[in-house]
Amino acid sequence: MVMAKKGFSAILLAAGKGTRMRSPLPKVLHPVAGVPMIQRMITEVKQAGAKEIRVVLGFGESLVRSVVEPHGVCCFHQKQQRGTGDAVRAAQPENLEGTVLILNGDHPLIRADELRRLITEFDQSNDDLQVVTVELTNPTGFGRILRRQNKICAIIEEKDASHETRKICEVNAGFYLVRSEILNILLPKIKNENVQGEFYLTDILSLAIEEKMKVEGVKGSRQLAFGVNSQLDLAKATGLIFRRKARELLEKGVVIIDPRATYIEDNVTIGSGSVIYPGVMIKGPSELGSFCVVEPHAMLIRCQLGDGVEVKGGSYIQGAQIKDRAQIGPYAHIRPETTVGVEAKVGNFVELKKVQFGDRAKASHLTYLGDAEVGEDTNIGCGTITCNYAVDHKKYKTKIGKNVFVGSDSQFVAPIEVGDGAVIASGSTITKNVPPGALAVARAKQIVRENYVPRSSHSDSPNSTGSSEEVPAVGVGAIKGERSSK
Ligand code: UD1
Ligand code: MG
Repeated sequence: MVMAKKGFSAILLAAGKGTRMRSPLPKVLHPVAGVPMIQRMITEVKQAGAKEIRVVLGFGESLVRSVVEPHGVCCFHQKQQRGTGDAVRAAQPENLEGTVLILNGDHPLIRADELRRLITEFDQSNDDLQVVTVELTNPTGFGRILRRQNKICAIIEEKDASHETRKICEVNAGFYLVRSEILNILLPKIKNENVQGEFYLTDILSLAIEEKMKVEGVKGSRQLAFGVNSQLDLAKATGLIFRRKARELLEKGVVIIDPRATYIEDNVTIGSGSVIYPGVMIKGPSELGSFCVVEPHAMLIRCQLGDGVEVKGGSYIQGAQIKDRAQIGPYAHIRPETTVGVEAKVGNFVELKKVQFGDRAKASHLTYLGDAEVGEDTNIGCGTITCNYAVDHKKYKTKIGKNVFVGSDSQFVAPIEVGDGAVIASGSTITKNVPPGALAVARAKQIVRENYVPRSSHSDSPNSTGSSEEVPAVGVGAIKGERSSK
C-alpha cells in the first residue's frame, strides 16, 4: 500500500523498427484511429498514475522523439536493437526506485484502469516480479508461458519453441511489474543465447526463479495483450478503437446506424439524438450538437456543428463551424476558416473557403466562394464564382451584403463589394462595386439573327459574303438577314 502512494515508474519500449509492418514509418508512430500508438500508450500510463515515464528509442529516433517528448516523457537511446532486455538496460533503471512497470510500445488498446489494477495488486503482493499473461485461442507470434505444477517458470519465444510448446495458449502479454532493485539484479544476467541472438527481457522470469525470487503470472485482458506487429494487426486495433468509441456514443444517446462502419476519433463529442450513418468519418477535435444528421460517407475534420445541422451524403468539411439547423450538401466541400450561419443552406457541388456565410443565406448548387463574406438572407444563384486569386498570386476578398440576390452564373472579380439588397443579373461578371439596393447587369447583350443559314451549306451561293460582317462568329457559319435584338 505504501508503494501505491509513491506511484510507479514506467519503461516503455519503442526502439524497434517493426520490420513486420513493412513500412518506412517507425512502428510505434503508426496511427491507431488517428493517434500514434505510442501516444495512446503514454496517455493511458500517465492516467494510471506513473510518476515518471521513460521511453526507449532507436529506430527513427528523432521522429519518435518529436511525437513523444511534448507529452512529458524522458527519452533514452538504445544504440542497436539487440532485444527487449537490452532496451530496458538502455533506460538506465539503476536510478529508479520502487515499482517499475515495463511495457512493450506496441499495445495501443491498453487502458489506464487495468494498469492501475495491476499496479495496485502488485504493490499489495509480496512478489518480486509479475508477468501479465493471457489465454488466447490463437497464440501465434507470442511468447508462451511455461508452467510446472501450475507454477509459472519460463517464457519461451515462438521462434525458440518446440512444436509442443507452441500449442500452449497462455501467452506473455508484454507487461512486467518488478521491484527496481530486483530488476537491476536480473538485467545484467540476461544472455543472448537464442535463435534470434537477442537479449530477451522475458528471460528475467526464469532468472528470477533461479535466484529464488518470488515470481507470479497475473491475468490481463485480451485488449491489453493486443500487440501490433503487422498492418493486419494495426487495422484490427483501429477497428476495435473505433468500435469502442461508437459504443461510448451509443451509451450517450447518439444514434449510430452501423457501429462497425463508423469512424469517429476519440476527441469528438456528439450530442444525444444525433444520427450518424455508415461510412462517416469524424476526425477530432470536433464537436457536434444534438439532433444533427450526418449522412453516409461524409468526412468531418476538426469541425464544430451546432444543433440540428444536416450534413448530407458525400460532403467534406474541414476546420469549419456550421451553426444550428444549417444544411450542407450532398457533395459540398467546406474548407478551413469557414463559418456557415444558422439555417443557412450550402447545397450540392458548392465549395466554400474562408467564407463567413450569413444566417439563412443560400448557395444551393454548383458554386465556388473563396475569401468571401455573404450577408444574412442572401441568395447565391447556381454557378456563382468568386474570382479571388489574381495574376499577382494573391487572394482578394469579396463582400456581399445582406438580402442580396445573385443571379445564376455570375462571377465576382475580387476585390469587390456588393451592398445590401442589391440584385446581380444572371450571367454577370462583376468587376465594379455595386451599391446597396442597385441592380447590376454585366453581360453581353443578346443578338438574334433571324433566318440564320450555316456557312457550310451556303458558301457556293452567289449571295454569300464569306464573312460574318459585324456579327461575331457564333459556331459554324455566316449569318443572313441579320437583326440584333436590343
Ligand atoms: C514480445 C515478447 C513476447 C510477447 C510479445 C507481446 C520478447 C523477447 N518477446 O515479442 O514474449 O508475447 O512481445 O506483444 O520480449 N523493442 C525495443 N528494442 C529492441 C527490440 C524491441 O525497444 O531491441 C521494442 C519494440 O519497439 C516493441 C517492443 O519492444 O515496442 C516489443 O518488441 P517486438 O519486436 O514487437 O516483440 P514481440 O515479437 O512482439
Ligand atoms: Mg510486438
